[in-house]
Amino acid sequence: MTDPLPPKKEFEPSTGSDADITYETNNEAINKANSVSDNSSDEIIEIEKSGLDTVLDQALRPQTFADYIGQDQIKDNLKILLQAAKERSASPEHILFYGPPGLGKTTLALLIANEIGAQIKTTSGPAIERVGDLASILTNLSPGDILFIDEIHRLNKTVEEVLYPAMESGHIDIIIGKGPSARTIQLELPPFTLIAATTRIAMISSPLRSRFGGGVFRLEFYTNEQIEKIIRRSSTLLNLKHSIETEDSSLSEIAVRSRKTPRTANYLLKRARDYAQVHKSPLTKKIAEDALNLIGIDDHGLSQSDIQILRIIAEKYNGGPVGLNTIAAALSEDQGTIEEFNEPYLIQLGFIERTPRGRVISDSGYKHLGIEPQIKN
Ligand code: ADE
Repeated sequence: MTDPLPPKKEFEPSTGSDADITYETNNEAINKANSVSDNSSDEIIEIEKSGLDTVLDQALRPQTFADYIGQDQIKDNLKILLQAAKERSASPEHILFYGPPGLGKTTLALLIANEIGAQIKTTSGPAIERVGDLASILTNLSPGDILFIDEIHRLNKTVEEVLYPAMESGHIDIIIGKGPSARTIQLELPPFTLIAATTRIAMISSPLRSRFGGGVFRLEFYTNEQIEKIIRRSSTLLNLKHSIETEDSSLSEIAVRSRKTPRTANYLLKRARDYAQVHKSPLTKKIAEDALNLIGIDDHGLSQSDIQILRIIAEKYNGGPVGLNTIAAALSEDQGTIEEFNEPYLIQLGFIERTPRGRVISDSGYKHLGIEPQIKN
């Protein structure tokens, strides 16, 4: 027999379940996670790190598949998954999104909830400190809910193990009490869909990964054309065209410097708008260039820390190979930040390569710095 449990008392969640489960507009738990190991002084990297969830940013999030630009293959797969689940009157199977920050993992989770008319509860790996926190979150779900866990790679091992049966067979096993009087009880959960997101897929254990029966989807960087479409849509939503005359060429300039990332593109759009407004000027290509130069982002979208990384490899280490830990030490930055925020874009541009012996700069990386490539023998 299973005892009915008053969840909070029995599970002793560390901060109280209400603080850890956040609802669309309250992203406290996610913000808490984002503030960890945050010592970068690079504005653009800060933007990619932050969930950036002001009311304004939320207004820019697409709510439907029709409004969501790019990631076509993922959208096509998701539409089938959701439609099939709907026809069976079942909850869609669990889904994992991964890829560099700012590409729209959270946006897709919120969009899925909207498309199927489900309630979504959002939290993050580091916010779920104890088994009791997770038990409390899961037992408070209603049938058909979506649970979104951001940064799932930061979930601790004991909590992760409780998640396995929850995902697989819809129950959790909880140990009540200590010593000889300890007993295990099994709690049935309402049907739910877990949507998880990570920037570090290599840190996801294979038992966890294999339980995402609905699919494991990698988000790709956007093309400049897709980014341009996204910021054109944003400029309409921000009412930009009515307040500040906006030339199309300014949007292309912002797109080229956006690191192929919608979150950064929307941020740059807003800063360029501010700059135009203060200078009482239309948003022209020149104004966009001046605004973005002021922020410290170059004509390829590289931030100051990206340039420093290239210079360290090129000038201090003769083009590489050089280990990530050495680059991090030279930059006084933490290794995870470089791996998660700087490297993916530098690799995407083809400016650096990852080799088994470390990072090396490419000829195009040298060219971007205006340095002659090293001839190596
Ligand atoms: N805003 C952020 N990401 C977007 C996307 N992929 N499509 C449309 N608007 C967006």
